[in-house]
Amino acid sequence: MISKRALAVLLAGFAIGSPLTASAQTQLRAFVSSQHRPDVWRKAFDLYEARNPGIKVGLETGGNTSDAQAQYLNTVMTAKDTSLDVLILDVIRPAQYAAAGWTVPFNEVIGSDTAAYMQRYLPAYAEANTIDGKVVALPAFADAMFLYYRKDLLEKHGVNPPQNWDELAVSAKKILGAEKSENLQGLSFQGKAIEGAVCTFLLPYWSMGKQLVSNGKLSFDRDTAVKSLKLWKDFADQGVAKKNIAEVATDDTRKEFQAGNVVFAVNWSYAWGQFQGPESAVKDKVGVVKLPAVAGGSSVSCLGGWEWGVSTYSKNKTEAQKFVQFLSSPEISKFMAINAALLPQFPDVYADAEVVKAVPWFAQARAVVDTAKSRPVTPRYNEVSEIVRTTVNAVLAGTVTPEQGADQMEGRLRRVLR
Ligand code: GLC
Repeated sequence: MISKRALAVLLAGFAIGSPLTASAQTQLRAFVSSQHRPDVWRKAFDLYEARNPGIKVGLETGGNTSDAQAQYLNTVMTAKDTSLDVLILDVIRPAQYAAAGWTVPFNEVIGSDTAAYMQRYLPAYAEANTIDGKVVALPAFADAMFLYYRKDLLEKHGVNPPQNWDELAVSAKKILGAEKSENLQGLSFQGKAIEGAVCTFLLPYWSMGKQLVSNGKLSFDRDTAVKSLKLWKDFADQGVAKKNIAEVATDDTRKEFQAGNVVFAVNWSYAWGQFQGPESAVKDKVGVVKLPAVAGGSSVSCLGGWEWGVSTYSKNKTEAQKFVQFLSSPEISKFMAINAALLPQFPDVYADAEVVKAVPWFAQARAVVDTAKSRPVTPRYNEVSEIVRTTVNAVLAGTVTPEQGADQMEGRLRRVLR
């Protein structure tokens, strides 16, 4: 059956004397962060084009870290550039984009029952994308941090996946000592001053039961902050992590683990699809478990995820929003889970038989996503992020001690979150 839209396009073409001329096409352009499998998203775009003959979607990619991508998009939006219709945004940004007036709400295309529409998603994402009753973006995929490990090496050396960071250090040293390979790192995590380093700091901090911000106010616990910074620095000092861990961003961890040079790695879900891909040296040798806790604390993950927004400056807002509704559907969630190991934003997709077959560990991942903690929610998040990540980086680079780092962090945060 021909869709209404296809019919409209055909008629439009007919009116000017030729079927489906170029002018009858709607051109959309979508931005996807380069780390999150633009190759696989392209296939989802192709599917949309095949079903909607009047629409063509261009894909633009860039920004290998969340902050690099945000910097680029900030420039585009500040310039009121009309060339991008659809933007993928890190979960920490839809509120900021909406406040800046850079995205348009979806309420009209969703129809009368926006609450029911949003309730289909995992609660954390319904919440992150709804601001004062306005749906400012729709979830692209869920995300959380996990511990990846080399199943083959752990088995060979009779080691179980660690429950806490102390156990991880002991196991990593044992394996490194026995393997005697110069290229092998015990643990890789993110020490570069990127957005991901905010999570690096928060993981042990949260694991010890403390909050950084509550009700928009700073609730900084100095001892816990020192312990968190020291935990990571000790890994580097003890040779468990490499010396220049302060230069490591998310995709560096992914690449080094994928090349077979890392025993344990802290990373997000997308890494798995690459580890199992054709260019991987570790295919079928990788295990995934929830993150270790600080000894005596509990395991916590950092909530990630990405959202589709539609630009205020788009010339085809309604078509762009319909396209986003398609991208943010259970069908595409399942497609991205199977083909790119991006975590589903819909609870039901975790239990889908084909998803479970393709990514068996997703069965356990749901609980990790459900209990993952959100980075501080504050209108001044950008400043908070900058303070935390530059401190983590400075401690790992050895320019300040964990104690000095914690003091500087507290002082700077107090000025922002008074
Ligand atoms: C992942 C997460 C995102 C986070 C980023 C940090 O992409 O999904 O939320 O900010 O990593 O590096």
